[in-house]
Amino acid sequence: RVGRPLVVAIDGPSGSGKSSISKEVARRLRLAYLDTGAMYRAVAWDCLERGLDLADGALVEAAARALDLELSTSADAERVVVRGHDVTAAIREPRISSAVSAVATNLGVRDELIRRQRALLAAHGRRMVVEGRDITTVVARDAEVRLLLTASEEARMRRRGAQLGGTQTAEQLHEQVVARDAKDSTVASFTQAADGVFTVDSSDLDFDQTVDAVLGVVHAAVGGR
Ligand code: DC
Repeated sequence: RVGRPLVVAIDGPSGSGKSSISKEVARRLRLAYLDTGAMYRAVAWDCLERGLDLADGALVEAAARALDLELSTSADAERVVVRGHDVTAAIREPRISSAVSAVATNLGVRDELIRRQRALLAAHGRRMVVEGRDITTVVARDAEVRLLLTASEEARMRRRGAQLGGTQTAEQLHEQVVARDAKDSTVASFTQAADGVFTVDSSDLDFDQTVDAVLGVVHAAVGGR
């Protein structure tokens, strides 16, 4: 692949608009795109499918290390395949969202997925938008652009609700957005920008404005690359 390395690392809580914004930024900059949350979700799907006890950390770690996972790295073709099963839609189901924290707080799982994420970055010549919770601080600490995408609790619950088709109660949304982030933030700190990480607060921005704000940060950081 041609071009100088350009890694855009984007962290943020659920409902911050991180995925849709990251994809659009990848399209505009013609970069590959990696949704690291999908990898944690794929491990959770695999564990549930095989009836593994999520409380058994060693078993869950072993599942992650052995996971046969195929993941698209294009913003235009989201595709997650586990052991030949297309789980692109299944990993977004509420049952996975509820189970995934047990997987994401497993340090052995994180070690394995971080290793795979770094390998994917290298395989794409380090020209990639990578989004998650620990990208700016761990996975790609040396990224050319590091950004925290935030939004108020209210805005995040509203967006997640719309994403799920308005079928969730306020209580369910709170569980899926706020409570889950509280659990997740015990292993990866993404509520405060680390040193050298830019913050974009999307609470009062629409989609296009948020994309423009992120592209503004990219251009300020690396110029016309
Ligand atoms: O962004 P998401 O909702 O698809 O993330 C799924 C889960 O994985 C969520 O519990 C946070 C966790 N996660 C993580 O711990 N580290 C990442 N880099 C990405 C996601």
